[in-house]
Amino acid sequence: MTVAGFTSTGSKRPEALFGLVDPGPDLPIRMRRSAGPRIWDDQGREYLDLLMALGAVSLGYAHPAVMAAAREALERGGVGSLAPVEEERLAGRLRELLPWLESIRFLKTGAEAVAAAVRLARAATGRSRVLGCGYHGWLDLSSGGPGVPTAVQADFRAIPFDDAARTRAAIREADNELAAVVIEPVVDGAPTIEWLQLLRAETERVGAALIFDEVKTGFRLAVGGAVERWGVVPDLVVLGKALGNGFPLAAVGGARRLLDQVGRTWISSTLATEFVALAAARAAVDQTVALGVPAHLGRVGGRLHRGLARLAGEFPDLVSAAPGLPEMCYLRFRDDAVGGRVAAAAARRGLLFKRTAYNFVSLAHGDGEVDFALGVVEEALTEAARC
Ligand SMILES: Cc1ncc(COP(=O)(O)O)c(C=O)c1O
Repeated sequence: MTVAGFTSTGSKRPEALFGLVDPGPDLPIRMRRSAGPRIWDDQGREYLDLLMALGAVSLGYAHPAVMAAAREALERGGVGSLAPVEEERLAGRLRELLPWLESIRFLKTGAEAVAAAVRLARAATGRSRVLGCGYHGWLDLSSGGPGVPTAVQADFRAIPFDDAARTRAAIREADNELAAVVIEPVVDGAPTIEWLQLLRAETERVGAALIFDEVKTGFRLAVGGAVERWGVVPDLVVLGKALGNGFPLAAVGGARRLLDQVGRTWISSTLATEFVALAAARAAVDQTVALGVPAHLGRVGGRLHRGLARLAGEFPDLVSAAPGLPEMCYLRFRDDAVGGRVAAAAARRGLLFKRTAYNFVSLAHGDGEVDFALGVVEEALTEAARC
């Protein structure tokens, strides 16, 4: 094996999927093709997918309009030495749909876009400290661990999700050293409006930027993500995943006074402006609006989430809860190994099921797919219960 650690996306390792380093020939480990709600592995076996490329695909794989836009951009060369027309066009469309994005910058990955948001906030405030809540990618901001300098880690502190008292205390403690608070608006469940409003008020009080990391929630909970759903407007929003329906694109957008910091600091990437992903994203965004995708995800995802909650109740020895929202949900297993066994048993029956946060439906998932998935998960739980 030449790819270090099996694959460059940690969550696609067999160990992450099934809890097994070497899962054997009956489980899928590498894939060849994807279409609609399905993928095919390197043995040609077909799977209904509930991972949807880790939530990157909300319209279904190989959505015709997105593929056509990408193909057309590819035919025009896909990349060049000037800013492509697609960049300003997509930014304008996003601003039209999400008016709180006064100004926008594109990047390739969610982690990069969060890093850019924090860089903008630090440049604007002249401060270093950051409070965060949730997962923000592999870069130094919140991932910690070997290889991350202690000085970098010292500038970051985690705050608990939806805990108003501890959030207020952490912001007040950091006070005039605080550059930004960056949160995922959904962690295992919805936030209370009180927490979001407290974040808004307290960051304003100390002069720090409030950043919503909407990499998972953008274009999924609503076209305007958590901002649209709960009505609290941060200073910066980070988008990724569904923005490009699987094409590599992320963005940071928000208050012009913060985005204008790009003139003072340096945020730039050679291929941020290849225009295949920009064109694909424009099509993906237009389809998301035209087809009412978030409403579909809420409805079909609700069927999945209710089904998982029922199964959690039926297998209390194995499962403690079914956290999440209709649009992103999972089973919380009492034991990691059991979760792995259930995911493996589901895969043997033709379903890719995430054993931790989150499973995602797409526009290509209907009631039939969800009912099939729930039937498979029930059988997998029954099999795991016998062990
Ligand atoms: C909320 C959130 N932010 C940031 C990231 C990082 O995005 P990427 O893996 O594209 O760097 C992720 C990835 O799962 C995410 O869920």
